[in-house]
Order: sequence, then C-alpha cells, then structure tokens
Amino acid sequence: MDRIRIIGGQRLNGSIPISGAKNATLPLMIASLLTDETLILENVPRLADVIQLQRILGNHGVDITIAGKRSGDDPNSGRTLHISAKHIVDTTAPYELVSKMRASFWVVAPLLARMGEAKVSLPGGCAIGTRPVDFLIMALENLGAEIEIEAGYVVARAKNGLRGAEIKFPKVTVGGTHTALMAAVLAKGTTVIENAAREPEIGDVADCLNKMGANVTGAGTSTIVVEGVGRLHGARHSVLPDRIETGTYAMAVAMTGGDVLLQNARPELLQSALDTLTQAGVTVTPTNEGIRIARNGSGLNAVDVTTEPFPGFPTDLQAQLMALMTKAKGTSRITETIFENRFMHVQELARLGARIHLDGETATIEGVAKLKGAPVMATDLRASVSLVIAGLAAEGETMVNRVYHLDRGFEKVEDKLAACGAAIERISA
Ligand code: UD1
Repeated sequence: MDRIRIIGGQRLNGSIPISGAKNATLPLMIASLLTDETLILENVPRLADVIQLQRILGNHGVDITIAGKRSGDDPNSGRTLHISAKHIVDTTAPYELVSKMRASFWVVAPLLARMGEAKVSLPGGCAIGTRPVDFLIMALENLGAEIEIEAGYVVARAKNGLRGAEIKFPKVTVGGTHTALMAAVLAKGTTVIENAAREPEIGDVADCLNKMGANVTGAGTSTIVVEGVGRLHGARHSVLPDRIETGTYAMAVAMTGGDVLLQNARPELLQSALDTLTQAGVTVTPTNEGIRIARNGSGLNAVDVTTEPFPGFPTDLQAQLMALMTKAKGTSRITETIFENRFMHVQELARLGARIHLDGETATIEGVAKLKGAPVMATDLRASVSLVIAGLAAEGETMVNRVYHLDRGFEKVEDKLAACGAAIERISA
C-alpha cells in the first residue's frame, strides 16, 4: 500500500491547478444512464472514485472512452469522458462494487427512471457515521416506485413509469436531492423537491440535465421544480471546479505560510470557508485566474466553526480546518453537525502533538507552538488530507499510511504540493 512521506517546515509558494469536482463528476457520470445518447464530460479529475464508478457503470453496459490528449494541451487540464449508455444490459449493482463507494448507490434513480427496475446493494463508503439511505428510498417511493429490501439489496420497481410528486426531505441531503432529481426528470408530470440541498454540485448536475433536455428549475435553492420529459438526449458538459480541493489547499497554505494562487478556483463556491480563513488571519484575494491565498509573518487566530449544509461551512473541510487550528493562537471550537462520527482524525492529529478534546459533536482545540512528525494512519478521505496538512507544518518526518483514501478524492496531491516547495513524496508499495 502506498504511503506519503512529508518533511515539514517548508512554506508553499507558486500556483496549484484546481481539478474538476469529485462530488459533481460522480452524479454526472451516473446521469449518463438516463439517455441512450452519448454524454461528454470535460474537466473530469483523475481519481480512484472515478475509476471505480467506471467499473460500476461498465457492469450496467455503459461504454466509457477517455479522449486522448493533443499536443499543446495543458497537462493539468482534466480528462474528457465520452459516456454511452446506449444498451443497459444489467440493472443490478452488486455488493462487491457498491460497497467500495457510497455514491454508486445513486445509480438506483436513473436505472429505475429509464428501465422501470433496479436492484442495488446497500452502500458502503467512508466510515464516518451510519449514513443511511432512508430519505433516498422515501423520494423514490413518493415518485411511485415499489421498494423492497432483499438480502442487503434495494429492489426498486416502477413498471408503469414514475410520476411527478412532492418530495419534502426532513433533513438536507445531497444524495437524496441527486436521487430525487435524476428520478424526476423522466417522470410523468411535475415534481417539487422541498428542503433540497443547495450544494453547487446539485446545480452543476441540474445544468447538465437541462442540456440533455430536462426541465429543472430552482437548483441551488431549497425548492427544485422538475417538469418530467419523455426522453433525454446527449450533451457536452464541463465539471465545475472542486471547492473542497480548493479549501484544502487554501488551508495548507494557511498552515505553512507562503503565497499560492489556486488556479480556476471560484470564491462563491466556498465563501464561508474563505471567510473563516480571513478571520484566522489569512489573506484571501479573488483574482481573474482563481483565488490567491497568503500568510506571511502573522500567526493564526483561533476560530469557532459549526459545519452546516451549503452555504455554511462544509463538513468536508472540517478535518482540514482542525489541522489548521492545532497551530492557532488560543482555543478554537469545531462542531460537526452533519456526520456523527467524523472525528477519526483527532487521534491521529494527537500523534503529531495536537491538543484536542472531544465532547459529543464538539472538538475543542488548544493551539500548540509546534507539531512533531510521526507515523499516522489515514482513516477516511477528508481525514487523510488533514494529516497531510498537519505534516506540512510538523517538525521532521510524517509518514501518512493507507493513502488509498486520499487517492479516492485528491488528484496528484503530492505533485501539486511539491510544485509549491513542499518536501513530500509518495512511497509506492
Ligand atoms: C455528500 C457528499 C459528501 C458530503 C456530504 C455532506 C458526494 C459524493 N458526497 O454525501 O462528500 O460530506 O454530502 O455534504 O457528494 N442521511 C440520512 N438518510 C438518508 C440520507 C442522508 O439520515 O437517506 C443523513 C446522513 O447520515 C447525514 C446527512 O443526512 O447525516 C447528510 O448526508 P448527505 O447530504 O446525504 O450526504 P451524502 O450525499 O452521502
């Protein structure tokens, strides 16, 4: 298994290209199941989760080709996928595939909408809490699906097609909103999704669905209205930049000090995180090319943050902010309200000398003058990158083990950081 070795203490200077968003790419690829024509996705990041989803879609008969690079292309630009679900040969998504990545469960909606049936294993994914799928099932039932749970599988049927309905989520859910949206676009009549997730990736998927001929309005607000259409066609869509990758590198620069341009990053996708960094004493400057992050000389202020659905501070940046706060002046408090078990990085950060006290959903972090390198274990996707951030500022060597979690969601993390002066390398097993 690969490991990442970091010698801390280098400032970061230069520029980092931000990749296409993982959390938009996955549902966009899944949306290809809604049409027998080709969906072309540009700016697709090179990630283990994307390859895993290629396998899952391949099992349904989806054909994916990766367009070759031409000379003169920017080596950092994402890949272009041509995805054709012309013939769906199998409507079952087996446990062996779905258990590796939770978002793959979302294939249930387009399979059901287009084929009238789907049998999808209950999901696995990051170990950050129970993460049930009850709201997703409720949404499909509202749209007229019959659902049974059989031997670990969700078996969904809608022999006479789905019909528009009102879906009111009791809690904001990204996966639930994607599921409702993808099921509703081919349903008969109007669907109104209330308390919808407002995450930018929902808006990106809705844009793509509209390019495919769907009629979706209100994405990005709490109420999404879908007028069902008879069929969808092919389209070309470019994936929006990854706001979590953006925030992660912003925190890395805040941690080490220095001055880095995050190319292609869009401030409106992570305003609350940028505001938090400003409060912490970091200089954040939006430019025509992206966002510049700088910290020179000044120390870090402690900040108090509570994770919330968009536009609040994202749970996917909670671990990275905690790493940053380990070196702030004073005491900060981070409250996690989205996932109940998302504090596995606390013990690992403690191995580097961080002082963190956990009480229910709140972590209290007492800033220390210095962290010291140590071997640490990556436990989930976002936690693993928080250990990289801490390692960049720790004295001596930090070895991050089990980096396959990192590869699921961060493209070329060691190359991007090394290009800005970090002493970081991958040690391949
Ligand atoms: C998505 C993101 C993930 C992010 C999360 C919250 C992708 C691929 N993943 O995950 O990176 O951390 O949003 O922003 O986009 N819940 C239920 N029942 C359900 C569904 C959800 O109780 O049927 C709960 C969850 O346990 C959690 C909360 O609702 O407490 C939010 O989860 P949700 O927004 O659905 O997260 P995901 O879509 O899994």
